[in-house]
Amino acid sequence: PRRTGDGELGDAELESTALAEPGAVTVIIPTFNEAANVRELLRQLTESVPSRLPCEVLFVDDSTDGTPAAIAEAAQDCPFPVAVIHRDEPVGGLGGAVVEGLRAAGSEWIVVMDADLQHPPSLVPELVAAGERTTADLVVASRYVDGGSRAGLAGGYRVAVSRAATWLTKGLFPRRLRGISDPMSGFFAIRRGAVTADGLRPLGYKILLELAVRCRPQQVAEVPFVFRDRFAGESKSTAREGGRFLRHLVELRTASAPARMMAFGLIGLTGFVPNLLALYGLTGAGMHYLPAEIVANQFGVAWNFLLIELLLFRNRRAHRHWADRVGRFALLANADLLLRIPLIALFVGELGMEVLPATALAMLATFVLRFAGTETLVYLP
Ligand code: GDD
Ligand code: MN
Repeated sequence: PRRTGDGELGDAELESTALAEPGAVTVIIPTFNEAANVRELLRQLTESVPSRLPCEVLFVDDSTDGTPAAIAEAAQDCPFPVAVIHRDEPVGGLGGAVVEGLRAAGSEWIVVMDADLQHPPSLVPELVAAGERTTADLVVASRYVDGGSRAGLAGGYRVAVSRAATWLTKGLFPRRLRGISDPMSGFFAIRRGAVTADGLRPLGYKILLELAVRCRPQQVAEVPFVFRDRFAGESKSTAREGGRFLRHLVELRTASAPARMMAFGLIGLTGFVPNLLALYGLTGAGMHYLPAEIVANQFGVAWNFLLIELLLFRNRRAHRHWADRVGRFALLANADLLLRIPLIALFVGELGMEVLPATALAMLATFVLRFAGTETLVYLP
């Protein structure tokens, strides 16, 4: 990363201001074209942070406007150190920026907040104090506990999307998110020692979710906050961010092999739909049902391949050409069917099993084999 700015904001400054004192805080603020907000933000932070709380502010900036210059100018009136990491080649979006900041931050406490004043700076000392009071590793500023609200979530559409996302996320991680009423919040304090930056794979906006699921903080506290209107400019979130969020959920949920196998199975089940539709179409067009079965199966295979490429093994596609992956995947999927029959014959003939349990067992066995084969033969480097 290139660190920009003059004097106060230089390279050496960033290292030397890293504060390891107990109770000290680094405020990490991701910015993407927020030139019109940073002055007011730093002003309110200055007003809010008491002089007894050692504080430094670290902007991680992916802007294409004059945000770094606006920060440098506004920082001159700040009593605490302000640094900027500017990324010329941003990866991971908002979450990637925050992780970049986590690597550089040295204080015992790290507060992450937005630059647009939707997160009240006055709450920063309170978040840290709540952590110190309770031995919590993570303190979440929540819109969904008594005293909090999402007043600044503009429009019924955004409220509905936010509610659905919260509900889905909590359903997917009932244990890891226990005690977090607002896993979609972008405003929180986390203890430096609870963060293992190397294991993180941020993808888009939901950096709190990433930290809560992958770092497993021991204890979580919550503080209510009112999500206000933006001070200036507009949200940087796009429809594309919604797709990223779903991929992020899948990646977090399928981090373990059993969970991946489960997802693989669920995707496989959805493949019956195109398979049966194709069978219906082909036999309807006059094709004999046996060749039609074989052709229709390829529709299911293609569907499964697409979903698996887009969702499950998205990050493991690079080491093989796509045509190679298609070939191997299709081979495994069809071998599954071919293997099933002799396996059933073996279970019934040699082991004396009933036909139905034998079939179920054979399906299970070929499924596990197909999953293991797909992981190792198609998607392993
Ligand atoms: N460095 C960097 N890179 N910063 C970014 C990027 C990026 O790609 N995208 C957005 N930001 C910065 C913005 O400049 C802002 O400071 C902050 O991240 C939040 O971006 P907004 O665009 O204002 O987000 P929002 O208001 O739609 O969403 C906020 O509220 C949601 C809850 O409804 C965020 O806090 C979300 O995390 C939160 O879920
Ligand atoms: Mn915002």
